[in-house]
Amino acid sequence: MSLDLAVLVSGRGSNLQALVDAIGDGQLDARIVGVFCDRANAPAVERARSAGLATQVVAPRGFATRLEHDAALFDAIDARKPDLIVCAGYMRLIGEREVQARRGRLVNIHPSLLPAFKGLHTHAQAVAAGVAEHGASVHYVTPDLDGGPVIAQARVPVQPGDDAETLARRVLAREHPLLVRTLQLIAQGRIALRDERVQLDGRPLATPLQLAANQRFP
Ligand code: GRF
Repeated sequence: MSLDLAVLVSGRGSNLQALVDAIGDGQLDARIVGVFCDRANAPAVERARSAGLATQVVAPRGFATRLEHDAALFDAIDARKPDLIVCAGYMRLIGEREVQARRGRLVNIHPSLLPAFKGLHTHAQAVAAGVAEHGASVHYVTPDLDGGPVIAQARVPVQPGDDAETLARRVLAREHPLLVRTLQLIAQGRIALRDERVQLDGRPLATPLQLAANQRFP
């Protein structure tokens, strides 16, 4: 099944670019039906436009409350009828009402091995904690910030002398194939959320899938 994706972005847009490229070279059976951004001057908007994608900026300024901003954003998203909504570096919290209405159809990529290091500045958090391993997770979004069921992860070693920046660079390189492979599994109908648990091929996953260095899932 080809998957119709809405992609939410706020900044650089490298994960969006990875999706565009994977679709372009036939690795991912999907179509991006809309890119939505909260910041007019984000580089991601430029990338989306250059790729010829329908792109809409819904900035929070001009809305009295977060609820109203969310409602306008998700009305615009719904109008495109996506099968799946992908937060790929979308930096705003999404209110509970919109999240609940889209359970199982909303995923996020987060730069840590969840449940470790939720929220912002995850690479600095990892360096400060002195962990040996860091990485990225793709998870279903629930009202619990960065707390929804994790589908898949990519692990990255923390090397001696790493700072937040060097570590972020190493993780980002792994995020792109992680996101592409995870969406590929969803497009193939192999992954779903049932009773708050991730299922692979109809069976609950005991632990998140691990994207190995050779970039293959089971
Ligand atoms: C990524 O590290 C992603 O995991 C996080 O925000 C960053 C976005 O990067 N949620 P980009 O905009 O995709 O380049």
